[in-house]
Amino acid sequence: MARTTTRDIRAMKTAGTPIPMVTAYDYTAARLVEEAGIPIILVGDSIGQTTLGYENTIPVTVDEISSATAAVVRGSRNALIVADMPFMSYQASVEDAMRTAGRLVKEGGAQAVKLEGGAPVVETVRRLTGAGFAVMGHLGLTPQSVHHMGGYRVQGRAEDAASGMIADAQSLEEAGAFAIVLELVPSTLAQAITERLEIPTIGIGAGVECDGQVQVLHDILGLSLDFTPRHAKKYAEVGQVIVDALCQYVDEVESRDFPGEAQTPRERANSPAGAPVSKVTEMNIADGA
Ligand code: KIV
Repeated sequence: MARTTTRDIRAMKTAGTPIPMVTAYDYTAARLVEEAGIPIILVGDSIGQTTLGYENTIPVTVDEISSATAAVVRGSRNALIVADMPFMSYQASVEDAMRTAGRLVKEGGAQAVKLEGGAPVVETVRRLTGAGFAVMGHLGLTPQSVHHMGGYRVQGRAEDAASGMIADAQSLEEAGAFAIVLELVPSTLAQAITERLEIPTIGIGAGVECDGQVQVLHDILGLSLDFTPRHAKKYAEVGQVIVDALCQYVDEVESRDFPGEAQTPRERANSPAGAPVSKVTEMNIADGA
């Protein structure tokens, strides 16, 4: 099967089919997301907090996103892979943006890139799409501007902010974006934007009227042990399952119940006990013999 395309995503909006999207940052997670049949994977700069232990997305580098993207591409076959453009990899100039998008697509193997912001990045989006890149926009709470915004708060509550966001969304669409993430936006505003655009809106903390939903994998699987944002629903407590499994492993190592018979290689009948493991025995172990 070929990968989902930006045209497929747009067709989902036209058909009224809700679009599920989730983040992934490595090969194993991509395999699992793919198994669930999710059509778009975002290699988000939320990798900063979820995987790299940064306080926010600001320190994330193009190298980090690019190598994570390559791993996600290796772990998936059908999903459209969108790679986030990290903070200060596109804001200073269109040339920077071109170089970053080029690396994420050529080295990382992404099919699309995502960048944050409205009016200030519209020209960049126009130039990127003109150069042949598929671009996803991101409005509302834009975490790379957390210091400018003064924290992670709902955006677009005031009337002028709401009308500004509608205008930004329309400009991004006109510049060639194929979809727009709306993060932490009142649901009425998200609905107004969704109704005005031909391209899909993908909400996160923006209500059910968006054309699709995106969530951070760690939030919905319960992988982050300390914090889950209010807009996320935990569909599983995978973090606790992992801790419980590891505690059991430690107990069994300490009690010498692990390794058991099944995990212990046997010597060949004619091999003298205590003889060094031969290449043949090593191969037998690898074969499960
Ligand atoms: O980096 C990320 O995970 C994101 C989503 C919150 C949309 O940008």
